[in-house]
Amino acid sequence: MRLNGKTIIVTGAGGGIGRSICRRLASEGANLALFDLADSVEETADLAREAGAAAGAQVHTQRVDVGDPAQVNAAVAAVAARFGAIDGLVNNAGLTANLAPITKMSDEAWARELAVNLSGPFYMARAVLPGMSERGWGRIVNISSGAARGGLYRQAGYSATKSGLLGLTRNIVLEYAERGITCNAVLPGLIETPVVAKMPKEIKDFALSLTPARRLGRTEEIAALVAWLCSDESAFVNGAEIDVDGGGRLSPMVLGSVREVEARRNYRS
Ligand SMILES: NC(=O)c1ccc[n+]([C@@H]2O[C@H](COP(=O)([O-])OP(=O)(O)OC[C@H]3O[C@@H](n4cnc5c(N)ncnc54)[C@H](O)[C@@H]3O)[C@@H](O)[C@H]2O)c1
Repeated sequence: MRLNGKTIIVTGAGGGIGRSICRRLASEGANLALFDLADSVEETADLAREAGAAAGAQVHTQRVDVGDPAQVNAAVAAVAARFGAIDGLVNNAGLTANLAPITKMSDEAWARELAVNLSGPFYMARAVLPGMSERGWGRIVNISSGAARGGLYRQAGYSATKSGLLGLTRNIVLEYAERGITCNAVLPGLIETPVVAKMPKEIKDFALSLTPARRLGRTEEIAALVAWLCSDESAFVNGAEIDVDGGGRLSPMVLGSVREVEARRNYRS
């Protein structure tokens, strides 16, 4: 029950990774505020209530577009009014608005990715930091992506925003660490979620060929790290960029082994 008595907001709570994060945080005793645009957030809330029943975790849901600062401010104020204080924030909402070469990426797609993936975490952090700062304790976890390091072919907006999120993470640390606040980034590799399940098999096989663990990650593996980062135990871990990718970041190319290259080229799941 590491998180007993803490109140944590999770954005994008209706999605694959968000759902596992909520179940895990509730099972450790946290009260939760789940923000999402999609109705699936209600199903996550039911699962989180079930997971947190023994711990008495309370779960609140709100339809919020994290890319809209007015909605964010109103929703955060509502959570503070219900629970009294906000101790943690998991910036997990994210999207890919367009798969296109840079010259074909529309203004709208670029702007939407920027609004949800980068401005959203900024608006959320800006809204919760004053209270955390006053109480001298806070945890912010930003869900970035392996794309922040290596880029992603034809996903310029997504990659740029996920890299930008690392910059925001660093600045929150620089400005708030001395007030008992930590802010860390989690960089998932390819994780087994409904979105990833819909990807073409060829693409998944190629991604797995570049992943030393030769498997997709599990949403629970992200959730376990997030729970630790939200707890007291991680108090001196600040500004970290933690990859949860089965070693995938280590394998952009192979220059030393023909056998390994063949193994990758011929890999089939
Ligand atoms: N699945 C992966 O392999 C993977 C890999 C690296 C990083 N990530 C990151 O993990 C996070 C979660 O990804 P996922 O795979 O669970 O995706 P998902 O699409 O299943 O979930 C994202 C959730 O965010 C919500 N959302 C979208 N726009 C929103 C907005 N403006 N306001 C509020 N909520 C909004 C969606 O409704 C959805 O429920 C994302 O930030 C994603 O970029 C995922």
